[in-house]
Amino acid sequence: MERVKSGIKGLDELIQGGLPQGSAILLSGGTGTCKTIFSMQYIYNGALMYNEPGLFVTIEANPKNIAWNMESFGWDIRKMQEERKINIYRLHLAPKRTFGELLNEELSTITGIVKELGIKRLVVDSTTAFASLIEDPSTIRSLLFKFADGLKELDCTTIFTSETRSTKTSFSAYGVEEFMADGVIVLYFTPPNRSIFVRKMRGTNHSKTVHPFEITQNGIVIKPKEQVLWEAIK
Ligand SMILES: Nc1ncnc2c1ncn2[C@@H]1O[C@H](COP(=O)(O)OP(=O)(O)OP(=O)(O)O)[C@@H](O)[C@H]1O
Ligand SMILES: [Mg+2]
Repeated sequence: MERVKSGIKGLDELIQGGLPQGSAILLSGGTGTCKTIFSMQYIYNGALMYNEPGLFVTIEANPKNIAWNMESFGWDIRKMQEERKINIYRLHLAPKRTFGELLNEELSTITGIVKELGIKRLVVDSTTAFASLIEDPSTIRSLLFKFADGLKELDCTTIFTSETRSTKTSFSAYGVEEFMADGVIVLYFTPPNRSIFVRKMRGTNHSKTVHPFEITQNGIVIKPKEQVLWEAIK
């Protein structure tokens, strides 16, 4: 199996060298657990270190918020944006017609960008925010499935984020995202400590313990040789 280097220091050692190429990975965690930083770092380092074009799909209404996050780590993305190595696409979710139709449109726009630019790394941040615009839970589930299925058709390695309530055994907001994913990575913040757990990764003999990580001035750094006790996470 081909592996995609994550660009997150310390992570690849936990997952046999990297993310399975072509997989769809769910990155879940409560609010402020670093889901957005993690997924940007994946895109940024992918472009910088591995020369792989990336697409960051956000529903963030204000693109400035994304820039703030990048700037706080000195990640200068402007040049890479000009070269179209890093691309940010904001979903247009103001409901025009039905949600299903809207989703199809967005999916085909994303597919178009991926094909045109040869995108290898794709992020959708976050599926929760996007699903929160839909009221009926069963509609949310079927649309999430459809969306993830569409993304899996693409020839790229995808990370999609989901915000969980802060219980340690909850892996997604709607209880279905983890089943659509080939891998699940969970982030925890038990102040002041941050940690990461690989819950599943298909085709991979991954670490089965929780590892601490820190936010440094260059982004997230995981300590693969250190462990956090399950009981220490709240
Ligand atoms: N430059 C930095 N140095 C240290 N810590 C930082 C820095 N920038 C952000 N943080 C920490 O990271 C947290 C935010 O991370 P991030 O936005 O990735 O979380 P998230 O899981 O995406 O949260 P949300 O629920 O808002 O989507 C901040 O609340 C702050 O604690
Ligand atoms: Mg976020």
